[in-house]
Amino acid sequence: MLTSLTNANVSFEPTVASIADAGWVDKGVALAYIVAAILFIRALAGLSKHETAQKGNNAGIVGMTIALVATITLALTSGPDRGVLTTALLIAVAMLIGAVIGIWKARNVEMTGMPELIALLHSFVGLAAVLVGFNSYLAPDAEAELLGGFHLGEVYLGVFIGAVTFTGSIVAYLKLSAKIKGAPLMLPGRHWLNLIALIVTIVLMVFFINEGGVSPLNTTLLIVMTVIALVFGVHLVAAIGGGDMPVVVSMLNSYSGWAAAAAGFMLNNDLLIITGALVGSSGAYLSYIMSKAMNRSFISVILGGFGSDGAVTAGDEEQGTHQEIQAGEVAEMLKDAKRVMITPGYGMAVAQAQYPVADLTRRLREAGVEVEFGIHPVAGRLPGHMNVLLAEAKVPYDIVKELDEVNDDFPEVDVVLVIGANDTVNPAAEEPGSPIAGMPVLKVWNAKDVIVFKRSMATGYAGVQNPLFFKENTHMLFGDAKASVDNILGAL
Ligand code: TAP
Repeated sequence: MLTSLTNANVSFEPTVASIADAGWVDKGVALAYIVAAILFIRALAGLSKHETAQKGNNAGIVGMTIALVATITLALTSGPDRGVLTTALLIAVAMLIGAVIGIWKARNVEMTGMPELIALLHSFVGLAAVLVGFNSYLAPDAEAELLGGFHLGEVYLGVFIGAVTFTGSIVAYLKLSAKIKGAPLMLPGRHWLNLIALIVTIVLMVFFINEGGVSPLNTTLLIVMTVIALVFGVHLVAAIGGGDMPVVVSMLNSYSGWAAAAAGFMLNNDLLIITGALVGSSGAYLSYIMSKAMNRSFISVILGGFGSDGAVTAGDEEQGTHQEIQAGEVAEMLKDAKRVMITPGYGMAVAQAQYPVADLTRRLREAGVEVEFGIHPVAGRLPGHMNVLLAEAKVPYDIVKELDEVNDDFPEVDVVLVIGANDTVNPAAEEPGSPIAGMPVLKVWNAKDVIVFKRSMATGYAGVQNPLFFKENTHMLFGDAKASVDNILGAL
């Protein structure tokens, strides 16, 4: 490439065409794409288990570095026929701006703010697919011209998926960051509205492909469909209630993958198609697992809302009197206990209480108490949130159990420590008509004694009051979870 650069004699700046004829570039890029794709698959496989997660992450980083270098090389050698230095400069400036924002955001984001950051990043993928689609429609390359109707179909679908992902993710971001609060948006006949929007989109697609190529009619059709898709994205996510947001996050993750795959088709980039399909299918599978964990129908998730008519019977009003307890008394209870279960939630993440919790676990186990953790699949704000925190604090994996593994054991448990959890231990889920009805919860109230660590009587993420707090065998230990656990450690 450098030789070609120095040999370029036509213009002041070497043109990309002058260095593009080297066939080895294409072959090298193809090979690099295969290696990167294999590394991405290894990354996903590694990330599925605690023990291999670090290796999986490393494989992903190496794969992405290879993919970036190969794609930049390709852009420099086969991109538009402007000077190669101009192309390189444009790429460098774009990457620099992206890297500065990315590093700044990554350094500042709290672990508890990750879901909204991820939702925001998904919206960028959606927006990118829309922009690539419009660009590919207005300025198709020679290959796209040859593909004709097929290319127009790619553009149409890519813009549609991208636009739904874009606005859907923005609404998810606003909901997750509590910038939008309140009940889910339940328009009358909302499933019909969704269906009509889909039918109109398909009819417009037929006209769009039939018309063929760039024309005022086609441009209008594409713009009208984009507006419908943008509104559709808002409606899909706005109809989903607070407690069900985890499924939406993974669903939008999946949509962003398909949007990237669609952009890959439009840009004729194999690696983007593979990567998008990996993200799309793994996100779809995660949504399926989450829907099952939440006892929701996967199809209703995809269609937006969960088929509920919005009836809300349980509000945030208090439902009786609660009993308070002090750290010293909890320490006494723990000394007498034979079996202790800890069910952490979002509050443990906020308080960063995982380290004293790990110390407490070690101390109790040394004293011969059986200690286990019961982890709800949507505890915290990210899939696996609690597992990550406990692993970080070096709690042994084998005592960290899933909801199904421990839910029948509570009657044999002496003390349950509910550390900053609320919705995931809420018996209201067993009452029909509750906004969280049907969601499986940890049945902590079946234990002999329950201690709830939180700062007030406030509701959890779903905004539903928790009858657990008013049960006879429940005691509230008010205060920051980290300080409370430290106080118990001090008293032990
Ligand atoms: P939540 O229901 O969100 O309740 C957390 C509780 O922690 C709050 O009631 C809060 O009460 C308490 N808390 C906050 N800061 C605290 C601190 N510093 N010290 C002590 N307590 C503190 O938690 P959960 O049981 O983990 O349930 C998760 C919820 O988030 C579910 O509704 C789930 O659907 C939703 N969600 C989950 C995800 C994923 S993927 N996991 C994603 C999006 C949404 P006080 O304010 O009184 O202290």
